[in-house]
Amino acid sequence: MPKRVALVTGGTRGIGYGISLCLAKDGYDLAVCGVRDEPSVCDVLAQLRDVGGQVLYCQADVADAAARHKVLTGIQDRLGRLNVLVNNAGIAPKERKDILEASEQSFERVLRVNLQGPYFLTQAIANWMVQQKKNSSDFCGCIINISSISATVASPSRGEYCISKAGLSMTTRLWAVRLGEYGIPVYEVRPGIIRTDMTSGVQEKYDKLIAAGLLLQSRWGTPEDVGKAVAALARGDLPYSSGTVIMADGGLTVQRL
Ligand code: NAI
Repeated sequence: MPKRVALVTGGTRGIGYGISLCLAKDGYDLAVCGVRDEPSVCDVLAQLRDVGGQVLYCQADVADAAARHKVLTGIQDRLGRLNVLVNNAGIAPKERKDILEASEQSFERVLRVNLQGPYFLTQAIANWMVQQKKNSSDFCGCIINISSISATVASPSRGEYCISKAGLSMTTRLWAVRLGEYGIPVYEVRPGIIRTDMTSGVQEKYDKLIAAGLLLQSRWGTPEDVGKAVAALARGDLPYSSGTVIMADGGLTVQRL
């Protein structure tokens, strides 16, 4: 039996690396894409290969249609199959700016990477997954989007990020509906405050909020926390839950009185 293959966008750093590692440990061959060139990530790729599977690296900006197409054809040529797509790559605004002042340029940049990219990458991969299913009825595929609590929690200092994640949440539901007839589930994993490069600039702010009782589980989240949730979904541990949101936020969004 050939190994199952997973594509993790932004899979060489932060949450994406946590996801790649958990899937590699579960026996997947990996395709990983990111904006850095391959020599810059060769140490990370070596760590993933040490787990035992194949790891294909595709340098690609998910916001770029031609680059997305190259990722697809690269996986088709080199690995020949794809079972799991994890849309993880995402960016924060370069500067947190009040929505009374934030620029249209930043809005476009964030929306292209966090929403348009994953939406159309999903379109390309979904068509291939449908084809694989038609070719082999026992083909097993799924799609997992990494959104954020910002899909529902309003932060007026980064409105474009919140809107991108709210849009990604609808993306999950749209593709879950469209792919239902093919038995391909689509899920959303919604992390809270996770310790990565993305949050390094606001560490002190979140340290204080966590110490003041923001979370039910009083610690920063880790990339592995998110990776484990993704691995459970990819394994099929939630077989009757397509279109669902899985929270990985330490209870941040549980309303309290
Ligand atoms: P990070 O900045 O540490 O890593 C992001 C990864 O995505 C990097 O490998 C980067 O090269 C890649 N990437 C960025 N832009 C890309 C593009 N245009 N095309 C391809 N790859 C690209 O970020 P982190 O924290 O690991 O975030 C991963 C995902 O999780 C993002 O979608 C983020 O919005 C989301 N998230 C993060 C949270 C956190 O607290 N760190 C909380 C909730 C959601």
